[in-house]
Amino acid sequence: MKMKADATPKSLNVLISGAGIAGPATAFWLSRLGHKCTIIERFPSIRENGLQIDVRKEGVEAMRRMGLLGEVKKYVVDEPGTEFVDAKGKRVALFPKIEEDKDGKQGFTSEYEIMRHDLVKVLVEASKENVTYRFDISVSEFDNKEDCVVVTFSDGSVETFDLLIGADGQGSRIRKMLLKSQGIEKDHTVNMGIYMAFFRTPRIPETEKMTTMYIGTRQRMLMTRVHSETEGQVYLGVKGHIDELDDALAKNVDTQKQVFGKLFKDAGWRAEELVDAMDKSTDFYASPTNMIRSDLWFKNRVVLVGDAGYSPTALTGMGTSVALIGATILAGEISKHGVDNLQAAFEAYENAFRPYVETVQDIPSIIVRGPYCEGSAKRRFVNLLLSTTTKLKLHKVFQTLILRANDPFRIPTYPELEKVSGVKA
Ligand SMILES: Cc1cc2nc3c(=O)[nH]c(=O)nc-3n(C[C@H](O)[C@H](O)[C@H](O)COP(=O)(O)OP(=O)(O)OC[C@H]3O[C@@H](n4cnc5c(N)ncnc54)[C@H](O)[C@@H]3O)c2cc1C
Ligand SMILES: *[C@@H]1O[C@H](CO)[C@@H](O)[C@H](O)[C@H]1NC(C)=O
Repeated sequence: MKMKADATPKSLNVLISGAGIAGPATAFWLSRLGHKCTIIERFPSIRENGLQIDVRKEGVEAMRRMGLLGEVKKYVVDEPGTEFVDAKGKRVALFPKIEEDKDGKQGFTSEYEIMRHDLVKVLVEASKENVTYRFDISVSEFDNKEDCVVVTFSDGSVETFDLLIGADGQGSRIRKMLLKSQGIEKDHTVNMGIYMAFFRTPRIPETEKMTTMYIGTRQRMLMTRVHSETEGQVYLGVKGHIDELDDALAKNVDTQKQVFGKLFKDAGWRAEELVDAMDKSTDFYASPTNMIRSDLWFKNRVVLVGDAGYSPTALTGMGTSVALIGATILAGEISKHGVDNLQAAFEAYENAFRPYVETVQDIPSIIVRGPYCEGSAKRRFVNLLLSTTTKLKLHKVFQTLILRANDPFRIPTYPELEKVSGVKA
């Protein structure tokens, strides 16, 4: 199986499904390594949706290795920290941003907060010269052979590729088809029971660029953020009501707004005003919190990257980082093992990365349960815990503990990647 020393490295014909974060990041590397890459996106254009996302830890390192950290810094949202308020809007606790330090300490506010579409844009711009982007198209089915994958597209055309990469997000069709082709009927999706709505609003003038979180009763959480002089964002999170929300999510945006409006309008704090803003919003987007724990990351010529294979959910603030790290390791292992040893490359990718993904997915229960209080007694307790933590100046320790910031995981070193990006690991 070893490549002859004098053989010129073959280039792979690669199809990537999904132009989010993981897709363009993987294409960035593979195209620089000389492979022919096509990205297909189900939507008619790059999606402008999405609010503020965090790039953390080795996700920052992945962007640095791509030589794109400077670009990312241009778009970073300057957020001084996260505060918690009570129903009257009075501050209960403040967690200021922890500046990047050599221990990699992290707070609720990450050192790289960026609007999702800005990060997508950075990755697309950096890859588009040598990557073909095709919109309004998806994979209908594939025949996954040992030495190639034959893809049928939604427009009926059929093409053969050396490799199909599923980077199509948490609802990945590629994952579902891959699992099914192996006789696995279950989808390996874990619904965490929290449903979130996201939208932008005009900024209230004079407000700080702070993340403000309010814990309501009946398992409701409201959060606002500010990312520019004129715009802000709203996040509504609710636990329970699963059937009602699943039903609404299968319907149109107006129905979804109605259900969220009904669930939130009496939640207290600024709820009424935010529900009004939601009705007016044009970018409303709602989603269950689904963790993806696919047993299978690859088979033959199909491999998963990012949320498609292992979404840790937005609750971790690590989805984007995990996608960026995964893209780097996958490309790195392909460069290391060579195009004639793809199975070994995929195995090495999974071996190097799965244990870390499992650590990230092991979400501390305080994150899942803390902000969702049924009654006011529990809410008083949570707010007291938060305020005591800040009063005793334990906010750094608290955030470090619950965000498990100090893990030793590092992206392996890949000399071939260093060569093509010109950035040393
Ligand atoms: C519209 C949108 C808004 C988001 N907003 C937030 C947010 O505000 N905060 C947050 O933390 N995370 C958000 N996320 C999730 C976040 O982007 C991911 O968790 C993370 O960045 C990992 O990226 P990914 O590329 O693996 O998946 P994603 O970013 O989900 O990208 C997947 C891409 O694949 C495309 N796609 C889906 N199905 C198909 C198909 N069958 N064929 C072809 N293409 C397909 C999607 O349209 C999307 O462009 C959002 C995702 C999307 C798609
Ligand atoms: C695209 O490919 C050409 C030819 O191989 C190369 O010269 C150029 O640097 C590549 N561009 C990018 C952005 O990688």
